[in-house]
Amino acid sequence: MPGKYPSTSSPPRRTHFLWWCAAVICAIITVAVIITGVVVFVGYLVMHPRIPIIRVVDAHLDRFQYDVGGVLVTQVNIVVRSENDNTKAHASFSDFGLVLVFQETMVIARLVADPYEVSKNDSVDFYFPAASQPIPLNPEQMQAVDSYLKQDRVRFDLKGSVRCRWRIGLLGSVRFWSHLNCQLLFHPSNGTYIPTPCTSKAK
Ligand SMILES: *[C@@H]1O[C@H](CO)[C@@H](O)[C@H](O)[C@H]1NC(C)=O
Ligand SMILES: *[C@@H]1O[C@H](CO)[C@@H](O)[C@H](O)[C@H]1NC(C)=O
Repeated sequence: MPGKYPSTSSPPRRTHFLWWCAAVICAIITVAVIITGVVVFVGYLVMHPRIPIIRVVDAHLDRFQYDVGGVLVTQVNIVVRSENDNTKAHASFSDFGLVLVFQETMVIARLVADPYEVSKNDSVDFYFPAASQPIPLNPEQMQAVDSYLKQDRVRFDLKGSVRCRWRIGLLGSVRFWSHLNCQLLFHPSNGTYIPTPCTSKAK
């Protein structure tokens, strides 16, 4: 019986203490969550993050010839710009891989680059001389090439992706793939590039 007193009097006190602790911890967590939210939101507003992109800024068709045997040789010079318009965030690019395709299936060249960095509010240009191996054409492809030359307009497709890592100060880093899929149009008579929007999109 004497042992009953401590057992009946202490549990309510202990429970009370634990509840009090739980309430304090809950309050601290709540405040921490609110502060984190405010910091992320203010950081976002201050930094105006803009997703880094790659885009084609210029190109030139240096060579587009085919001989009587139906063998095509072509060279396209392409300038790809990597843009980081953020004034407070550094961007890293890696796994850069684009492929220049003619007539949907003929791979003219693969454009690759080693990992590189783009500083705050900066851009980096790569000049790719994309030359094909001699490509034997079948009769339909020869007809298509003839009609391109008659229309003085030839189309290539540039497809691929690059991996971006984007460091936003205290907010940590974000990684994503940026995909490019666009058409490059040229006048084969003088090699002039017909500019069309060609910008990568994040996925
Ligand atoms: C960003 O770069 C542009 C030109 O490249 C310059 O005019 C501008 O002042 C720069 N902004 C900052 C915040 O450095
Ligand atoms: C190239 O040819 C096209 C069409 O023939 C013409 O519109 C364009 O101005 C020419 N460009 C140059 C730089 O001569």
